[in-house]
This record gives sequence, structure tokens and C-alpha cells, in this order.
Amino acid sequence: MMQANADLKTLNTFGISAKAAVLVMVGKTADLDELTRTPGFETRDWRILGGGSNVLLTGDIHKPVVRIAIPGMKVLETHGNEVIVEAGAGIVWHKLVMWTMKNGVFGLENLSLIPGTVGASPIQNIGAYGVELKDVFHSLDAWDIRSGQTRTFATDDCAFGYRDSVFKHDAKDRFIITNVRFRLSTVPDLKLDYGTIRDELSSMKISSPTPQDVSAAVVNIRRSKLPDPAVIGNAGSFFKNPTISQDFYDSLKADFPEMPGYPSAEGVKVPAGWLIERAGWKGFRDGDIGVHAKQALVLVNYGAANGADLVALATNIREDVMRKYGIDIHPEVNIW
Ligand code: EPU
Repeated sequence: MMQANADLKTLNTFGISAKAAVLVMVGKTADLDELTRTPGFETRDWRILGGGSNVLLTGDIHKPVVRIAIPGMKVLETHGNEVIVEAGAGIVWHKLVMWTMKNGVFGLENLSLIPGTVGASPIQNIGAYGVELKDVFHSLDAWDIRSGQTRTFATDDCAFGYRDSVFKHDAKDRFIITNVRFRLSTVPDLKLDYGTIRDELSSMKISSPTPQDVSAAVVNIRRSKLPDPAVIGNAGSFFKNPTISQDFYDSLKADFPEMPGYPSAEGVKVPAGWLIERAGWKGFRDGDIGVHAKQALVLVNYGAANGADLVALATNIREDVMRKYGIDIHPEVNIW
């Protein structure tokens, strides 16, 4: 399906109005081959859109926008307790999480309610409440824009990092992810170590949780902190949590004794939400743009914001955090 001069407002969770010169829906891999033979598309210089939950539109898009809507969820293989599940890139992420649990297959529960599609999940290695996509990833198929061939990527080919993968670097704009496979299990292996999960389970009065309980706890936590894009436009965390050296962290602690920090392989990860909140931005509002009142990492569109104003707000926040703490924070949202 092809539409000229299409408004993308309902196709991005920030709810920003911007026009695509042409919008093409792709429902199967073969549609991509067909597209390359369509006059006007043979240059293969396209923008690829998934669920639109990690993108900030700053103006009209003159390249064709290709929206990946490839369906399908199935159990591919079972080896003892291990189950390999395959899903089409266009499946809504949370729908896959619910489908796996309903079919007695576990491992995705901590990733409940993350907005976006299956196809986008490996690109930024989605993560929440102590689990990252890479922990449950098996492999994916991606269509090579240059050759028109499908290539399979195993975990090692993806170079997963914190909110990062090869699809943000060497493979950027070169591959279109069509299917993703996950390594899950019929035996629950609950990950309860992210502080707020145990707190939420105990306030739910659950002492022996099932995967469904963990999922429900994650849904409750997310709903209490993160705005629902159907109500207030947003793209989840706007910034990544920065990692700084242990020495730098120790010196900052002298001035800011309550600054949280989580040790990681590269140093100490500091919650950007804390830095932004302490810099005074939590709940900030100027017209239709703002900083969410319950999670300072989330920028919001209260109605008719435009992308450029949100970029300007993000720049102000970034400069203020740099001035106050000497820490540079970077967006995790893709700015188009
Ligand atoms: N904090 C504040 N003020 C705030 C927000 C956070 O002080 O306004 C501090 C608190 O110290 C809190 C800590 O930050 O204890 C961690 O907060 P939270 O659990 O909300 O997590 P986060 O680091 O702010 C990250 C992810 C989220 C993910 C949660 C839970 C990033 C960029 N964000 O947020 O992911 O849901 O952890 O695992 O890593 C997303 O990527 O869009 C996203 C929502």
C-alpha cells in the first residue's frame, strides 16, 4: 500500500505532525524486492519506520518512508525446555510478550509494555528492569538494501551494547530487519533484582511470583512512571544514562553525596533522570513541550509541539546538566 503526502502523526508516539512524501507499507519480505523495481524507489534511499516509538520528527520527510508491518508469531523449535520463538518485525512488542506467556514460554516478562515493534527491538537492544534484549536473543533475518538478499545475524554479529547494536553503526541504513528469533524457556527463570520489582510484588502481596506476576508488576511500575503515548506524546527515555569513570564519580560524590551510581564494566552508570531532576527540570512545561512530572528522563508533547522545539529543549537540558555536573548526556531517541 502506497500513500502520497501522508501525515505521520499517528505513526510516531511523540504524536508529532510531519508529512512523508510517500509512505509505503511492507507486509512481507517479497514486497521489498518489488519496491526496488518500482519507479522512484530504485535508488533504495528510504527511511525505515517501525512502531515510531523511538523517533523524533523535526520536519517533513522527502525520502520515501517504508513502514515495516511484517506479521507472524510462531514456535520454531523446541529442545527440551528451550523454545525458539520467531516473530515478524511488524508485531507490536507487548503483543509478543503476552503471546509467549499465554503459550507457557518465558523470558520476556521484564520487557512488558515497552512501546514499539519486534523489528526495532534489536536495533537499540531494548532493556528494562534488569533484562536486555540480548539476553533472550537468538538471531534475526535482515534484508540487505544494497543486494536485495536476506542475511541472518546471530548474537555475535549484532554487537549489542547498552541501547546499542551494529544496526546503529556499520549496518545503519543498510539492513531492514524482517524477522527476529528469541531463545526462551518453558521453565521460568525470574529476574527480580531490579529494586522496584520486589517492592511492587510485595505491595501486590505476592511472595511466590509467577512470570505473569512479574509482568504485571512491570506493567504497574511503568504505568506509574511513564506517560501513556496514547494520552501524552513521548518516546520513553529521551536520553541514555551516561557512564563516567570511578574517579570522576568519586569526585562528584564530594559535592553531591546523594548522587546514585551503578557500577558497570566501563565505569559507573549515573541515572540521567536524577541529574535532570536535580537540575530542576522535572515537570518543566513551556506551551506544549515539557519534561514528564514523574520521570525526568522523558520529554513530552502535550498537544501540538513540533520536533524542533523538543530538540531545543533537549539541548537546553543537556547544556544545563553539563554546566552543573560536567557530565555529557546523549539522546537515545533517533532525531529525523
Ligand atoms: N531518577 C531520579 N529522578 C527521575 C528519574 C530517575 O532521581 O526523574 C533516578 C532514581 O535514583 C532512580 C533511578 O534514577 O532510582 C532509576 O530510575 P528508573 O528505574 O526509572 O530507571 P531509569 O534509569 O531512569 C532506565 C531505562 C528505562 C527503563 C528503566 C527500568 C534508559 C535510558 N532508560 O530508566 O527505559 O524502563 O531503566 O529498567 O536506560 C526507555 O529506554 O525508553 C526506557 C523507558
